[in-house]
Amino acid sequence: MINNNPIGIFDSGIGGTSIWTAIHQLLPNEKTIYLADSKNAPYGQKTKQEIVALSKKNVDFLLDMGCKLIVVACNTATTNAIKELREQYTVPIIGIEPAIKPAATNSKTQTIGILATQGTLNSELFNKATEMYQDTKIIEQVGHGLVPLIENGDLNSPEMAQLLESYLRPMIEANIDYLVLGCSHYPYLIPQIKKILPEHIHIIDSGEAVAKQTQNILREKAGFNNGPLDEPIFYTNGNPKVLSDILENKYKVEEKVF
Ligand code: SIN
Repeated sequence: MINNNPIGIFDSGIGGTSIWTAIHQLLPNEKTIYLADSKNAPYGQKTKQEIVALSKKNVDFLLDMGCKLIVVACNTATTNAIKELREQYTVPIIGIEPAIKPAATNSKTQTIGILATQGTLNSELFNKATEMYQDTKIIEQVGHGLVPLIENGDLNSPEMAQLLESYLRPMIEANIDYLVLGCSHYPYLIPQIKKILPEHIHIIDSGEAVAKQTQNILREKAGFNNGPLDEPIFYTNGNPKVLSDILENKYKVEEKVF
């Protein structure tokens, strides 16, 4: 029965585990397989064609494992490849888009900030999303260097603090009241970001929205698991220790060539 098959989730690396966590919390009775393509991280500086090819390779791997639904837990892969994935595959495919809408509609200063990769900010999908909020000033900032540091497990280094300061200070000076985290790696930087941002600036990420969308699609299409529950499976083609550490060593992580 297809509904008892796992949900497949992939990211360019370990960051999408922030999305996995939100899905696992909302849907604890679902089996999940997480794929971290850390060997190819970051996706943010790659061409659209490269991102589409890598995304297809990840989806093929998850479909070979019998996944009933795919979550693209990577903003760069969503904004550059979701259309091509949906054209090629028949399973439901859910993407993660930067949460511009809640930030723009709730902003009192009509100024919001978005931190994302170059690939996301350059994408057609992102630019279409921002066009809908002409009355809001959107300050875009590429998070150069952040993903490689996170992939190295270097969250608390002086270099990370320096990069964040240089990216966020101009946004604070421009009077943003919402900061959108437009990359699934960045929620792991919230403690470091909070040290820089004044308290009145809200931080928004997309984890909860993606989890709710996954629940809706299971209800409408793929079906909920009603069989025995397996432990979540985590695969990486990078350093398994870094993935295991970000999961607080609660789950088994397998190294895999793919
Ligand atoms: C990256 O691989 O550059 C970041 C992934 C993302 O955009 O979520």
